[in-house]
Amino acid sequence: MVLKQKTLDLKRRMRDALQGGGSKAIKKQKAIGKLTARERILKLLDPNTFHEYDLFVEHAAKDFDMDKKYLPGDGVVTGTGLLSGHPVCIYAQDFTVAGGSLGLMHAKKICKIMDHALKLKVPLIGINDSGGARIQEGVNSLAGYGEIFYRNTQASGVIPQISVILGPCAGGAVYSPALTDFVFVVDKISKMFITGPEVIKATIGEEISMEDLGGARVHAEISGNAHFYSESEEQCFNQIKELISFIPWNNQKKADPFPKKSPKTRQYKVDNIIPTDPRQPYDVRDIIRALVDDSEFLEIHEKFAQNIVVGFARLNGETAGFIANQPLVLAGVLDVDSSDKAARFIRYCDAFNIPLVTLVDLPGYLPGVDQEHNGVIRHGAKILYAYSEATVPKMTVILRKAYGGGYIAMCSNHLKADFVMAWPTAEIAVMGPEGAANIIFRNEIRNAKNPETVRKQKIKEYKQKFANPYVAAAYGYVDAVIEPAETRNKLIHAIKISKQKQEIPQTKKHGIPPF
Ligand code: HXC
Repeated sequence: MVLKQKTLDLKRRMRDALQGGGSKAIKKQKAIGKLTARERILKLLDPNTFHEYDLFVEHAAKDFDMDKKYLPGDGVVTGTGLLSGHPVCIYAQDFTVAGGSLGLMHAKKICKIMDHALKLKVPLIGINDSGGARIQEGVNSLAGYGEIFYRNTQASGVIPQISVILGPCAGGAVYSPALTDFVFVVDKISKMFITGPEVIKATIGEEISMEDLGGARVHAEISGNAHFYSESEEQCFNQIKELISFIPWNNQKKADPFPKKSPKTRQYKVDNIIPTDPRQPYDVRDIIRALVDDSEFLEIHEKFAQNIVVGFARLNGETAGFIANQPLVLAGVLDVDSSDKAARFIRYCDAFNIPLVTLVDLPGYLPGVDQEHNGVIRHGAKILYAYSEATVPKMTVILRKAYGGGYIAMCSNHLKADFVMAWPTAEIAVMGPEGAANIIFRNEIRNAKNPETVRKQKIKEYKQKFANPYVAAAYGYVDAVIEPAETRNKLIHAIKISKQKQEIPQTKKHGIPPF
């Protein structure tokens, strides 16, 4: 009897806590296309696998009449569950409860699940939908953020950390997602900024809408803060599931192997993608699709710094990280943003035991005052650092141009690539034939009776001498010149024989990368 009564009491308490911010706040949430925190978790995780923690946690604030307010779960839902069969720890801020604002106990709940994720060595997923620091709780809110940032940093490179922005994420709150590995945004729902439109107007007089300042598109295309963009929460959850399928649970494991599948060779013919005219562009993603299992490629940062392509695919069932210059955009040059994008991805793969496949076709680093003043030296160095530091198997395929600093930076033999292959179309040189001929034969061209004929002749000479893979192959900088159709087998073989690869890094506390 006592048990029955106590069980009824438990059920009543649970019902109260599960109501979130109540029907009015939930209606407002739904009206703008947003799900509630619990709905999001249940939709994302495998059915009947979510186990909630700390449902009965309450805030402890007293000022500003807070002692009279009941905030169910203190505005955040936390717990564990399975995502496509993988164990995960998860939290979702509940905007219907005090705008999902972060007070002391709200932060403690998040920190507890973060500590759990690190202890259990499983991925952490954070769904952000919050007005930021709970103003009534003052320094306790700031303390809460500090504790979260600290844990994000401790967990970095140990467990995958995924941030999903499904509402406002304002002020210092943005720094937790920024410290995590992958940030997902949804059109018209996600908003991220340090200072909102009103503060900007008051302080520097600029007027801008919230969407134009920090909407999903802005972060996916311009700032690069977001790695995945989608049109709806549902699409976003599917993207998360796909990502999880490619990555390991923690840095001690490898990604789960998948059944082997051939590429869709009818659609993607590796021999036919590079145009005959070496000045013509092509979509390097078609080459990736021609090489990988089922032609399935999960692109990361798809809309940002499109002159480089990064993402995951499988070779004979095993995950590999692809980094490829994109001749379709700016001829595939390296610049400030593409260097940042690639370097970050390389470091992710290296931390999580994912082999790197680099496809090279670039004329070098982007020249210009804008790039120099924006620190292309510092940013460009990141890619050198990331490749040099990486100890996972590193395979490089030079498809066409590999000029100057670009040749070195794109995982060359000199940055300790394990296998460097080149297609017969490869051109490995200090610079392009036109520029090179103009410089080294300047006097001969200038003094010739017919300078244009001599110039063309000298370009041809230079091309014959250097615009090929054989000079580099003669020095052993290229391990093999291969036919395009052999590439997939060569990569699969390289991954197979690198299984026991071990490189012991120099003893040091940590390096000083060009952040
Ligand atoms: C306490 C908050 C809150 C906050 C929202 N609410 N933000 N309560 N602290 N930070 C409450 C509102 O009072 C309201 O309560 C409910 O949440 C819903 O908010 P609305 O304003 O009605 O929602 P909406 O119109 O959708 O606007 C959402 C919003 C806006 C744009 C996020 O609420 C807003 O501008 N909030 C403040 C954002 C902000 O400046 N945060 C502090 C950032 S500084 P009721 O009871 O009326 O339903 C910061 C420092 C952290 O975060 C530093 C860490 C290093």
